[in-house]
Amino acid sequence: MILVLNGPNLNMLGTREPEVYGRMTLEELEELCQSWGAELGLEVVCRQSNFEGQIIEWIQQAQGEGYEAIVLNPGALTHYSIAVLDAIRAQSLPVVEVHLSNIHAREEYRRHSVTASAAKGLVSGFGALSYKMALAYLADALEP
Ligand code: DQA
Repeated sequence: MILVLNGPNLNMLGTREPEVYGRMTLEELEELCQSWGAELGLEVVCRQSNFEGQIIEWIQQAQGEGYEAIVLNPGALTHYSIAVLDAIRAQSLPVVEVHLSNIHAREEYRRHSVTASAAKGLVSGFGALSYKMALAYLADALEP
């Protein structure tokens, strides 16, 4: 079972800066993640919060809730949240960081991820397909 976590402002997908993030809504993105997961033999549960503390608690609790891995789009927390970094480090599930946009092709302040150093890997710039690639990696990595 895989937990897909989306951080601040990702509930605004669809109308938020469509030239950067496209027109897909969060609901559509989550449905896609579930169907891509099903194709890969993975059960996918999706959650979104605008609150750093909620994201941290979900990361902390994931293993105890029976999840095997986390796909995480921390939103802007990516660029400054040492607390999210610590939460990833404090647990042992593999975390794959994803971004819809290519953070390295954007403003200077988005080019560094403080959270990615604790992640297995980072997929950035492929829109919803960033999530699909993360799920494909996890399906392979979690195969017994
Ligand atoms: C984002 C990139 C971040 O810089 C931004 O703050 C977001 C979305 C992405 O998916 O491209 O909220 O994580």
